[in-house]
Amino acid sequence: MKMVMMFMVMMMVSESSMIDQTCKETPDFNLCVSLLNSDPRGSSADTSGLALILVDKIKVLATKTLHEINGLYKKRPELKQALGECSRRYKTILNADVPEAIEAISKGVPKFGEDGVIDAGVEASVCEEGFKGKSPLTSLTKSMQKISNVTRAIVRMLL
Ligand SMILES: *[C@@H]1O[C@H](CO)[C@@H](O)[C@H](O)[C@H]1NC(C)=O
Repeated sequence: MKMVMMFMVMMMVSESSMIDQTCKETPDFNLCVSLLNSDPRGSSADTSGLALILVDKIKVLATKTLHEINGLYKKRPELKQALGECSRRYKTILNADVPEAIEAISKGVPKFGEDGVIDAGVEASVCEEGFKGKSPLTSLTKSMQKISNVTRAIVRMLL
C-alpha cells in the first residue's frame, strides 16, 4: 500500500514537471501552467497533446468572445461596424484557424499548425484595431494574443 502511494506521488511529480518544463519555454509560464493544469488531459499529454489542449483553449476563448460581440450589438449600436468586422475575424478563428491547427498537429505537420495558431492572434489584433482605441474587447483580445503566443511556442517545439 505504501509502495503504491509512493509510486502515485512520483507519477504526479513527473507529470507536473512535464507541464512545468514545457511552459518554461513559452513567453507566459503562469498562463501556460494554469491552462494546462485546468484540463484533465494535461497530466498525461505529450508535447503535441499539450499543444492540442491549448488550441482547444483558443477555441473556447474565441467562442466566448463571439458571444460577447453578439451581446454588444444591442448595447453599443454605434460600434456596429467594428463589431461586424470582429464577428468575421472570430469566425475565421473558429472555422479556419482552429480546425487547421488541430488537423496539422494531429497529423504531425506542425508548420501548418503554427500558421493557424499565429493567425488566431492576428485576427484578434485586427478586431481590436477596428475600434480605434475604444475597444470594449481589450481584455479578451489580450487573452487571445497571450494564448496564441504560448501555443505557438509549444507548437514550435514540434517542428
Ligand atoms: C505576442 O508575441 C508577439 C511576437 O513575439 C509580441 O509582439 C506580442 O507583444 C506578444 N503579445 C502578448 C500579448 O504577449
